[in-house]
Amino acid sequence: KPSGAKQPASAPERKGPSADMKPVLVLYGTEYGFSKEIAEKLCSMLSACGGVWPQLENMADHPSGYDFSKVQVALVACSTQGDGVPPTEAREFCEWLFAGKAGSLAHLKFAVCALGDKSYTHFCRCGKQLDAALEGAGAQRLVERAEVNKEDWPVVDAWLGAVVAAVKELPLKSFAELGLAVSGVADADKASGPKKWGKSRPYTASVLALEGLCTLSGADDKNTVRMELDLGDSGITYLPGDALGIYPTNDSKAVEELLAVMGASPSEQVAVPSWHYEEGSRAGMQLSEALTKCYDLRSPKPELVKLLVAALEAAHPPTANGNGTTAAPSPYEQLRGALADASALEAYLAPRHVVDVLQDAVPVKLSTAQVLSCLRQLQPRLYSISSSPLEDPRRVQVTVAEVKYASLGKDRIGVCSTMLSERLQVGSRLPVYVHKNPDFRLPASPATPIIMVGPGTGLAPFRSFVMERLLAAAAQAGGGGACADQPGRMVLYFGCRRRDQDYLYGKLLEGWSAEGKITLYTAFSREQKQKVYVQNRLAESAELVWELLQQGAHFYVCGDAGSMAGAVEAALLALIAERQGGGPEGAQAYLQALSDAGRYQRDVWY
Ligand code: 2AM
Repeated sequence: KPSGAKQPASAPERKGPSADMKPVLVLYGTEYGFSKEIAEKLCSMLSACGGVWPQLENMADHPSGYDFSKVQVALVACSTQGDGVPPTEAREFCEWLFAGKAGSLAHLKFAVCALGDKSYTHFCRCGKQLDAALEGAGAQRLVERAEVNKEDWPVVDAWLGAVVAAVKELPLKSFAELGLAVSGVADADKASGPKKWGKSRPYTASVLALEGLCTLSGADDKNTVRMELDLGDSGITYLPGDALGIYPTNDSKAVEELLAVMGASPSEQVAVPSWHYEEGSRAGMQLSEALTKCYDLRSPKPELVKLLVAALEAAHPPTANGNGTTAAPSPYEQLRGALADASALEAYLAPRHVVDVLQDAVPVKLSTAQVLSCLRQLQPRLYSISSSPLEDPRRVQVTVAEVKYASLGKDRIGVCSTMLSERLQVGSRLPVYVHKNPDFRLPASPATPIIMVGPGTGLAPFRSFVMERLLAAAAQAGGGGACADQPGRMVLYFGCRRRDQDYLYGKLLEGWSAEGKITLYTAFSREQKQKVYVQNRLAESAELVWELLQQGAHFYVCGDAGSMAGAVEAALLALIAERQGGGPEGAQAYLQALSDAGRYQRDVWY
């Protein structure tokens, strides 16, 4: 993307290809839009080659597969999510391809750009699997697979350059030679019918209930809220284990601060960015609204630093002093220093919001279009759903902890969580969608025992799990089934600071426990000198856990991936090792087998 280029209000109509042009498929699978950005850049590079017609396709639009029979070249960019799975909406396409359902692809040339994050276990796994599946089907690799950590553009650009050079060398056939019609090709993208509610078309739900669940009051204390939303007659459905995606808005104070440093007018008209869910429905919006709804005001793209340094060098050309060395204008040292190398740039950008970076370059100013070109998309936030659809299928509830932290000596707040806890009220409306989580599900049989570990807001999906099972059992019993199955044993480990401060849904859990519906273990970490955590309770009740595992129990963990999930896994491995024999390796193998059987499921986040 050319930086600084103003985006048109709506994408210009692309003229269709002529019959002598050569089609090349560019296919992407994305969660947060980075693969799409790469695929779009590749398309514009291919278009510039002349004679080539790049056809951009989203895997999400092809859940039941893609007809590769007349495709000569497939260039693929795809990311990997969480525990090494495809992007949510690309999952069905990927599974179709992994299962070999594309048939023989001996006629196909391909290249894969695999995206991932090295801090997760299965780096670039989905891209690697796509690469292997294409090769396995007989397709020929055009260039080596790229493996991109986070947003490492130099690696991406090297792959793009190699791919375009390789495509240029290929003896490609034209639409006419392939016997393909060119009419309608240009707008095939848009002709996919009315879209369902989803990430790119969120439903505007209204807030039915909003309440704080904690009684914390210290300066560094984070409150947790319960929010219930009305899904109305949207027809949106969900299952326990799913998450709710919420599009947040930026705080007006943050928008005003940025406008002031930009020296821009809030009422300036700007285009709705192409990735925003309102694109296409409106021609444009005021800058203040765009900054509120569309853009992430926290982590700017590295280009922002480059543009600012270029602008300040134009304003103050480095001058040679008497010693022949260069005297740089001092306020800019930091900005210039940030361009020294990738790690300096990352270190400079990490604690800074957009406004902080612009502040470092005052009085140099960029145009509004330049600044916007360096901003990222304001991403929706995902929260585990804590209600069961059996309570009321038209209502959905989430349990959200406020995010507060400090950097550069300033207090920072989480965009979405503080929107919920401070700016919303009953009756407010917000765009939402259901994010399916097929890797975090109740067992197929209600009789299978479940063990759930969820300290803090990690409790959310387990409130849903327990509610679902109890309501399903009650409905079955009420429906005349005197012999209704008892729900399987449910064991819940919950941890928080103190019983009287942040015991989320404490009354409900204690009630369930008193009635014998669940077996509850609580760890109140700050009620005594020594910390007590869920993993300690797990170790104390090892006998029960082992017994239930022998009976086929599923084991679930939800919450902090940083240290809790690891500590819980260690406790689990220890109790397995003690009882099973076979030492630590035996325990690892046991846990791996559980995981392979879908009986050890985690929904954890950093
Ligand atoms: P703490 O804040 O008192 O250390 C929910 O946040 C609960 O998880 C709190 O009681 C918190 O305790 C606890 N917690 C913090 N670190 C943990 C860890 N590594 N493992 C398990 N629980 C932890």
